[in-house]
Amino acid sequence: MQDGIMQVGHHIALSLTVNGTERSCHAEPFDTLAQVLRDKLGLTGTKIGCDAGDCGACTVMLDGQQVCACLVPAAQAHGANIFTTESTDPLTQTIKTAFLTHGAAQCGICTPGMIMATHDLLTCYQSPSRKTISDTIGGVLCRCTGYTKIIEAIASLAHPPASAVEADAARSVGQRAVKAEGRAIVDGTLHYGADAAPADALWLRVIRSPHARATFALGDLEATRKKFNLDAILTAADVPGANSFGVFPNTKDQPVLAQSHVRFRGEAVLLLAGSRAALNAINDADLPISWTQQSPISGVTAGLAPEAHAIHAHIPDNVLTRGNLKRGNLAVGRAAAAVHAFGQFQTGFVEHAYIEPEAGYAERLPGNRIRLAASTQAPYMDREDVARVLGISDDHVIIQPTACGGGFGGKLDVAVQPLLAIAAWKLNRPVRIAYSRIESMASTTKRHPSSITASASADAEGRLTAFEMSADFNTGAYASWGPTVANRVPVHATGPYKIPNVWNRTRAVLTNDPPAGAFRGFGVPQAAIANETLMDDLAAALNLDRWHIRRINALDHGDTTPSGQVLAASAGLPQCLDALKPAWDQALARAAAHNAINPRLKRGVGIACMWYGCGNTAMSNPSEMRITLDQSGFTLWSGAVDIGQGSNTIMRQIAADALGIPSESMTLAALSASSNAPSTAETADA
Ligand code: FES
Repeated sequence: MQDGIMQVGHHIALSLTVNGTERSCHAEPFDTLAQVLRDKLGLTGTKIGCDAGDCGACTVMLDGQQVCACLVPAAQAHGANIFTTESTDPLTQTIKTAFLTHGAAQCGICTPGMIMATHDLLTCYQSPSRKTISDTIGGVLCRCTGYTKIIEAIASLAHPPASAVEADAARSVGQRAVKAEGRAIVDGTLHYGADAAPADALWLRVIRSPHARATFALGDLEATRKKFNLDAILTAADVPGANSFGVFPNTKDQPVLAQSHVRFRGEAVLLLAGSRAALNAINDADLPISWTQQSPISGVTAGLAPEAHAIHAHIPDNVLTRGNLKRGNLAVGRAAAAVHAFGQFQTGFVEHAYIEPEAGYAERLPGNRIRLAASTQAPYMDREDVARVLGISDDHVIIQPTACGGGFGGKLDVAVQPLLAIAAWKLNRPVRIAYSRIESMASTTKRHPSSITASASADAEGRLTAFEMSADFNTGAYASWGPTVANRVPVHATGPYKIPNVWNRTRAVLTNDPPAGAFRGFGVPQAAIANETLMDDLAAALNLDRWHIRRINALDHGDTTPSGQVLAASAGLPQCLDALKPAWDQALARAAAHNAINPRLKRGVGIACMWYGCGNTAMSNPSEMRITLDQSGFTLWSGAVDIGQGSNTIMRQIAADALGIPSESMTLAALSASSNAPSTAETADA
């Protein structure tokens, strides 16, 4: 036990100085500093991304050094001097201003940790080099920015530019603007999914399948509930509406809680409700679940095998969706070609790895209504699924998106939402949940693994004459966005090139692997690996420059895509490639010079193009926003969720321009809602 620390019953009494103020509270013996700051002192600016010291989101200053607050036992912080992003000390304020001015935050979930790491840097170094800056902030991961703006912001403090960039008030599109929620991000007051809930909210914990395919039977849950002092153990039988959710009306195939059998490892089986201490005291093995394992299917080859079992009984061949696009005549195109390229490609699962795991809370409201606040990309789709699983109408569901600490497509699917909904409804009291990093990775969607066969043909000058692709995508145990991937890839599979003869075919294949969903491009990046490799192979076969073959085939204004769309508005690839040409030539020359004198360590230079259509493939994609005016001024009502791409800022600018008013005169309704969430602190200064 730390010197001078007092034990009070099972608790320890802590005194520490936080941001210049002496604070005291009680903590559990195994609490971490991160938990004390967030739960006891209400300082939720310190974020928890991995709870394992890997991501650095919880970085704070402790006695003059940056530490991961999730790794510091609370007792070790007794008597310590702590600084967090909520600090108003001059150095922290200066760093915050630099971050705001340089646009160094996107989703903002890493920003508090970055600010504290910068605090450490500037305490130790007066004039750090860019390498020292990179090294010192290296313990804090940013999934959004690529670090460039962050390093620029920090470098501006160490080496102020001759003319400082002003933090200009946003007045119109095209002007440099401070991010709409930027001040709240740097001050740590913006609420993400785990940052707020009603004070009397019960915690939830999901018990998940340890098997990829199994049947199961439940024992005496009531005895277990009593034994572990839980408020409830919910099963599939407790889902009041339909026990299924999913992206499309005809693919709502995933149960909220599995009923008698599971289709992937990590599938939700039971939902426990209680105090956090009670939930933490339970091991999965304490639950009375008897499993009967069955042989699972993993990968598309196994899923398509004639002897494969059906993942869902109504789809006997496990092909969820087929995509097909045909244009011209492949045989004619191949006959006109001088060279051909062929390849087989495989890609694996990719995890989104947003720094903020899924989290939120829900509370049942009078009049058979429910309010649910969660980290999400798609509140209107959430509303539909919450209404469905509760068996109520959409207009009885209020979805209040919290700030979203990264999504990348992964938060287009519901995760915590149906679980929160059924628990709040059944127990008639607020409930909250925050997935651990492990749970997030085990249970939520991934990028579709792909298995692709493709060929491309070109004439003697390098002009493409034919292209064919056959691609299977592993959509896992449930549909999620599998139909979109299967339908979108054929449209994009050729890459952004003029090709008169095309045949692209895809299948989304069900397996016992984790569900695959949306991830930046809906399968198109996987296809781009194939088509861009073939472009290189064709260039090599014809002894052409790789830039040149792309330039002469690039889709241009007025061209027709393989799906028949005429690019009447814009197509900037030729101009983009022309702008790139000098840098391409220089890079080739540098690599050649290096390789000429280095026999072992070689340098390579690559070029690739990609295209991606906006909107829903082959479907209309309407949207609307509203502006209202009352005594307090203009309010913009927009359902678009800012997950770091800056939509809160640009939407407000566009709306302000349309009305001819300064953008700061426009209130963003969504932003006001997320800053007014209830407080989360349990006891402060106890
Ligand atoms: Fe760094 Fe999103 S801004 S993780």
